[in-house]
Amino acid sequence: MSARIERVRDSSDMSSRMSDEVREGLQKRPLPELPSKYFYDDRGSALFDDITRLPEYYPTRTEEAILETIAQEVVDRVQPRELCELGSGVGRKVRLLLDAMAHRELLERCVLLDISEGFLIESARQLDADYPDLAVRGVVGDFLEDLPALGAGGGRLALFLAGTIGNLHPDRVPPFLRDLARQLDPGDAFLLGLDLVKDAARLHAAYNDSAGVTAEFNRNILRVVNTHLGADFEPEAFEHVAFYDPDNAWIEMRLRATRGMRVSIPGANLQMVLEPGDEIRTELSCKYTRGSLEARLPGTGLCVEAWYTDPDQLFACALLRRSHETIPSEEEP
Ligand code: SAH
Ligand code: AVI
Repeated sequence: MSARIERVRDSSDMSSRMSDEVREGLQKRPLPELPSKYFYDDRGSALFDDITRLPEYYPTRTEEAILETIAQEVVDRVQPRELCELGSGVGRKVRLLLDAMAHRELLERCVLLDISEGFLIESARQLDADYPDLAVRGVVGDFLEDLPALGAGGGRLALFLAGTIGNLHPDRVPPFLRDLARQLDPGDAFLLGLDLVKDAARLHAAYNDSAGVTAEFNRNILRVVNTHLGADFEPEAFEHVAFYDPDNAWIEMRLRATRGMRVSIPGANLQMVLEPGDEIRTELSCKYTRGSLEARLPGTGLCVEAWYTDPDQLFACALLRRSHETIPSEEEP
């Protein structure tokens, strides 16, 4: 069997959404912004993979160690017929769960959903080759918009790892969780990776690595906008900025213009004038506690069943269950 690849949107739909989102983001004042999903073309996904191996970037290795410890217990509790990873990247973590399942008779399917098309296709194909007893589906889509493409739940264990939920503005988290819960049946489960609140120095180091890989990853968003919208950003004319904001419990990444410049973004029908020191926000990375996660759960149809963390409390994996609660079909305004 070969992996089934589905694209939720065609390329003209993708381009027009990008055009709208970039125009809207760059017109925000006082701080223009770009949606962080646009880091991830092939180069951006490869740079993120490099980040995961940096000595300062503790989240990946910490989460992998937690997953290795808990995988068997999670699988025994949930007994999934389907594993479904949102924002799967290189697709390494789903394998930790698969390899932990000594008996996989119940498991039928594995679904990967990611916006980074090249990486998604490659990781779905590799998974298919390495686990021939599984039906593998790769969905190229946006986890903020396209979750209905997953289809109805039932025996589903959804995974959202790496702390990627932290890249959503906190206000966007409850609607996202409700959307996900609509794709789960009562009793289905959701394993959520969360980077935890900790001392600012450790966080600062993780997003300001000495090799400059995070800076390159940050500047890659401008290359993506150049490629897809014909813009003339000069990535090297921007410096990487990342700092921890303790009031919001988030890391904020920005790009700061090192000189005055005029940028044209024809695909978004936009011209931008930047003065030296002007900044564009490119990413939030929210840090959680069990309490701050639980505060966002009422009304989502999800509740925490188990909370797993490492000995240093750097990172957590929360096992959530879909309750019998009815979730309103319309999003609240
Ligand atoms: N789960 C992997 C990768 C995490 S990096 C790991 O643990 O290492 C975040 C991933 O989410 C990237 O692969 C990126 O392409 C994807 N992503 C980011 N925003 C997205 C969006 N809005 N919709 C779908 N995928 C997205
Ligand atoms: C994917 N995500 C969880 C990463 C994070 O830590 O917020 C993206 C990243 N940004 C800078 N370094 C890594």
